[in-house]
Amino acid sequence: MKLSLSALGRRQRPSDISRLMTTALERPDMLSLAAGFTDNASLPLHDVCDIVDAFANDGETGLRTVLQYGTNQGREKLRSSLVSRIEKMDSTEVGSLDPSRMMITNGSQQQLYIAIQTLCDPGDIVLVEQPTYFVFLEMLEGLGVDARPMPMLESGDVDVDGLERVLTSMKTGGEFERLKAVYLVSYYANPSGHTVSENAKRGVAKLLSKEDGKVAFIEDAAYRELYFETPSEAPGILGIEEAANLPLLYTSTLTKPFASGLKVGFGYCTDSDWLKSMLSVKGQQDFGTSHFSQAIVEHAIDSEVYDRHLSDLRRMYLKKMICLDEALGDRLRNLGWKWTRPSGGLYLWARSPDGLETDFDSAFHAACSGEGVMYVPGDLCHANRDPRDFARLSFGVLNEEKLLEAADRYFLAADALNSAV
Ligand SMILES: Cc1ncc(COP(=O)(O)O)c(C=O)c1O
Repeated sequence: MKLSLSALGRRQRPSDISRLMTTALERPDMLSLAAGFTDNASLPLHDVCDIVDAFANDGETGLRTVLQYGTNQGREKLRSSLVSRIEKMDSTEVGSLDPSRMMITNGSQQQLYIAIQTLCDPGDIVLVEQPTYFVFLEMLEGLGVDARPMPMLESGDVDVDGLERVLTSMKTGGEFERLKAVYLVSYYANPSGHTVSENAKRGVAKLLSKEDGKVAFIEDAAYRELYFETPSEAPGILGIEEAANLPLLYTSTLTKPFASGLKVGFGYCTDSDWLKSMLSVKGQQDFGTSHFSQAIVEHAIDSEVYDRHLSDLRRMYLKKMICLDEALGDRLRNLGWKWTRPSGGLYLWARSPDGLETDFDSAFHAACSGEGVMYVPGDLCHANRDPRDFARLSFGVLNEEKLLEAADRYFLAADALNSAV
């Protein structure tokens, strides 16, 4: 007997992220330049063991406390520490942010999901960059929310004048009431590696501030702390005057910069009603992120452990980025592929020559599977699945030896397709 619920499966299609992650885990012969996994060898094993030992030896806050449920909103001390870090990065006054506006979630993915679920009804619209984080697009689709691309500049920033025209045409076309948010992936973005400039953030904030709080501004700063050498000078939206009166949500995560398996993320929301609503949904979903995981990252942040780990990671990812970049190097560029070196994050974002399609059904994808290398097809990262000639190549998970091998395989597939034309 089959379930006959009419809504079942109406919007839900098999998840691309799950497909990629499952293939990566199930096919050890495949080298994955697809997975946004963090580097396995660099995971902070000893640090985490030391922290857990410290809990076990601490009679007062001991292991028993952190093995018990915590609060729905998340550990107060962790929220305070995270708020202080944001104030420092934004060079804003100490105490300008309020820890009670922060919510700890099961990764920043849960934060983003709850944010959209509470903000939008099916049929509503969220404006996104081209390209953008593909799991966010997948999530919008799953929630029945329409992802609309914003006009972009050659630099990778949102075209603010173009955005103003989009808002005007949404008003004349009667769609504006359904527009609920603008979403930006702001630092060393997934997939493009682009960092949104301060000017672009101010420009978007200025435009939205004319709309009486009807359109929220969501900044996804998942990779902010994963710069290679120097941090971006662009402040986050919480540090921008033009955004001061907007409903803002700033999200980020401790998964990529520390331990992805602990799955601790967070969001800071300036709008009390929205936050209240998100807290209600969090309560309905799981009434609190793993207390144990939170306590571990809190301890890491409050000691020197997190910062020390981050500086090791930055050096390591820089080396790995250079390794992949050079291994693909001139031979792939000579075939007409184009990409630039990012200054942080985990990804190279490469464009194929002559519009060569890279999607799951393409000849190029089949050639890569045949060679035993995976990448994320760029169409997944574009609202409307267009253009189709980009590939996201992650240097996160493979070690340098494997990156060299993966680059060889990728080149062989590209060369085979090139020779076939
Ligand atoms: C841009 C961006 N935002 C959010 C996330 C969610 O990460 P997590 O749930 O591990 O915090 C990711 C993960 O890859 C990402 O790339």
